[in-house]
Amino acid sequence: MANVVESTESIQTEVSRNLALELVRVTESGALASARWMGRGDKNAADAAAVDAMRRALNRIEMDGVVVIGEGEKDEAPMLYIGERIGTGAQPQVEVAVDPIDGTTLLSKGLPNAISVVAMAGGWGALYDAKHVAYMHKIAVGPEAAGAINIEEPVAANLQHIARAKRVRVTGLTVVILDRPRHEDLIKEVREAGARIKLISDGDVAGALMTAIEGSGLDVLMGIGGATEAVLAACALKCLGGEIQCKLFSRNPEEKERAESQGAKFDVILTIDDLVRSDDVFFAATGVTEGEVLKGVGYHMNWAETESLVTRSRSGTMRKIYARHHWGYKQREWLGQAEG
Ligand code: FBP
Repeated sequence: MANVVESTESIQTEVSRNLALELVRVTESGALASARWMGRGDKNAADAAAVDAMRRALNRIEMDGVVVIGEGEKDEAPMLYIGERIGTGAQPQVEVAVDPIDGTTLLSKGLPNAISVVAMAGGWGALYDAKHVAYMHKIAVGPEAAGAINIEEPVAANLQHIARAKRVRVTGLTVVILDRPRHEDLIKEVREAGARIKLISDGDVAGALMTAIEGSGLDVLMGIGGATEAVLAACALKCLGGEIQCKLFSRNPEEKERAESQGAKFDVILTIDDLVRSDDVFFAATGVTEGEVLKGVGYHMNWAETESLVTRSRSGTMRKIYARHHWGYKQREWLGQAEG
């Protein structure tokens, strides 16, 4: 394959598998705190609630963590900013990618598939640094079509490869695409190839994740979306045996020039191993609003319920975790007086 990034030796680390359950507590906290804002039209308040709750949960984990994908630079984000140290400071050393809510607009409008997401990878330099480039071209598939995609090939060719790998016809495939004017040509090409399309208004981490979940009915994610979401999706797909390929995308020549001066390469294919170099990766997501893969947060008189998914690359195990949270305990936990 041409132009593959010339990095990367996989980083070998050993992180306790118990971290997986710790991570679920983090996304559960984000979902529980932010789902109260469902449909209230205030994206920032919802995001702030999730950030605050997740940061508290992350700081309780025994780890020496650094946020490499977070809410932005220190001067624009008071918490979970890129470079922020989190955890107790004890070993292991991990890099953390966090998207407190993927789909803030979905949440603010009460639409499905907003999720709270966190990923963690052992060792410094484990997660890709997009050099301030906000968007990437992406193609992502689940395990059955891993090895069959090539982002440099035309849409129709990729669909044929995926159909062959999944032993179906192209007409039997469903492509998930962010509903944006920039995807007009892509949508046309998919339609001409004969595949079906699911347009989503937001949330392409969930879109990529769903390609790897049996029964979701989605076979491939295509199009341009957030760069940080691409790294998070890569973490999920590395755990689940899927594949993602990306290329940096610039919105204008100034952005391209600035990024290139910092070392960004726009003509290079970023493989899943470029996006996540560590061989020990954890990914967790909790549903905030009701979704196809995860239920949304349900609030009851004295308790709330969440549904989460957690997975680790070393084992490939994917757990779905239903949890009942009792408010009395939660409040004490938030005050630092009880176990979660
Ligand atoms: P936010 O939750 O940060 O708003 O991101 C939602 C999202 O849909 C992502 O899932 C996606 O990668 C990105 O926005 C697409 O960006 P844009 O809305 O600018 O097309």
